[in-house]
Amino acid sequence: MIKHLVYLALFLMLIISCKETNNSCNNTTSKRGLITKHAMVVSARAEASKIGNDILKKGGNAFDAMVATELALAVSYPYAGNLGGGGFMVYRKTNGEIGAIDYREKAPLSATKDMFLDDNKNTIPEKSTLGAMAVGVPGTIAGVFAVHEKLGSLPIENILKPVIALANKGVVVTKKQEHRIKKYQPLFTKVNKDSILFDKDWKANDTIKYPKLAKTLERILKYGKDEFYKGETSKILVKFIKDNGGIITEEDLAKYEAKWRIPITFTYDDLKVISMSPPSSGGVCLAQMMKMIEPYHLDEYGHNSLKAIQTITEAERRAYADRSFYLGDPDFVEVPINTLISETYLSERMSDFTLKNATSSNNISHGNIQIIESNETTHYSIIDQFGNAISVTTTLNGAYGSKLYCSELGFFLNNEMDDFSSKPGQPNMFGLIGGEANSIAPEKRMLSSMTPTIVEKNGELFMSLGTPGGSTIMTSVLQTILNVHEFKMTMQEAVDAPRFHHQWLPDEILMEPNTFNTSIIEQLEKLGYSINEKNSPVIGKVDGILVLDDKSYEGGADHRGDDTAVGF
Ligand code: GLY
Repeated sequence: MIKHLVYLALFLMLIISCKETNNSCNNTTSKRGLITKHAMVVSARAEASKIGNDILKKGGNAFDAMVATELALAVSYPYAGNLGGGGFMVYRKTNGEIGAIDYREKAPLSATKDMFLDDNKNTIPEKSTLGAMAVGVPGTIAGVFAVHEKLGSLPIENILKPVIALANKGVVVTKKQEHRIKKYQPLFTKVNKDSILFDKDWKANDTIKYPKLAKTLERILKYGKDEFYKGETSKILVKFIKDNGGIITEEDLAKYEAKWRIPITFTYDDLKVISMSPPSSGGVCLAQMMKMIEPYHLDEYGHNSLKAIQTITEAERRAYADRSFYLGDPDFVEVPINTLISETYLSERMSDFTLKNATSSNNISHGNIQIIESNETTHYSIIDQFGNAISVTTTLNGAYGSKLYCSELGFFLNNEMDDFSSKPGQPNMFGLIGGEANSIAPEKRMLSSMTPTIVEKNGELFMSLGTPGGSTIMTSVLQTILNVHEFKMTMQEAVDAPRFHHQWLPDEILMEPNTFNTSIIEQLEKLGYSINEKNSPVIGKVDGILVLDDKSYEGGADHRGDDTAVGF
């Protein structure tokens, strides 16, 4: 009898909790991520999420927590977290005001269009990916200080001190990190003249301490942003880059500034999506893909069904073709954003789409617009106890960037120069083809795919999300939003669900291996799609936060990494 009463009570609790949440309660096996009432941080490392969350608990806002989390990732996740890279943040304040900051790296003043080409105009292997020539002028410190100055509320020492303490105390190596370090050690040796901290045979559960990085952060705390761009740190950095054959000068650092940008906004059903504007292609491509998909009934087709994969793939193919031609740094080229994301243009782009067979990428080029004269990264999402939301993606570009590690300062330097099109028409390390709009010029920002995104539903905050993954970033963000909105998944399910990717060229659907129905793969192949399950064991590592109907938060921390949600 008691047993029956317990079952009845559990059943009633389940019904009540289903009424309070948005999604998936028709599916009693739905899997939820961490649920909290007031605030949450989701990032690639538990240590960084915890430091950000502690700042919120002390009364700081999402922008204070952004500074703390960004720099704590530089300590705990050197694979992509950084002082030597850059990123983008999109925000939505509790009063609905939105904005974005671009702290993307820039090409040095002495960069030239052909700097990665030999005398025969062929790209020189590895010059844009390994070592000092690959390094763009870093933007992260300028970015976090600009955010703090405009939107933060706590004194900067309250934010930096826990990060410095973490660097001194050290960070425990995870199993995944052990594998990553081992995998890249041959390249560390190839690039660096002297032995570096990561040459050691680190094993899971070891603790890596970062005293040099702590010292750099202490100087930044004492002297502010100028320490990195004009002070002792800048001098050490410039000398180090020069000694390694690079071209970044003190003038390059002194001239660097982060830029406030207007985010890309668009609607999809009852959602309003707010995402990153150029020099990231993320927001424009996400808008293009979602607006191309909107007229189709994905919810009726079913998640990862044949028709859903075809519709999404064909939208992706067309958006990436446009990306390669039209997108670049808006301070240098005119990007026809309004046309690119307009319904008229996008419905024309999909006019030749049919479910009967695959479109060939050979028959797809960029759309015609009259212009009057234009994988390894990391993402974190934060919602604070006041209702402010941020979405930040930050990067060194490749895993451990250029692999060049400045031991004296304690951080890796990016290889973001590879995100330019060194030779228009030739693929970069992500296989992305670039055009003139993204050619190299002094002080220009290289085109990005980073897609930090915030979603409103019926005018209210609904989701904050993003992911690393190079060229696969935009399609991973797209599928995660669709998973929640169209397929009624929880945040955790939406993040965990198997992903696929098409980027126009190469003309193939990249799929996470052994996660898709084999009969669907066979049917896609019969329709003319080429499937590649080999190239990428995982596509993206999405971190997101979903606002539930009762105004509590659900974190989605991607199981593909060590990602962790922390909140209260
Ligand atoms: N470096 C990756 C990106 O910006 O898209």
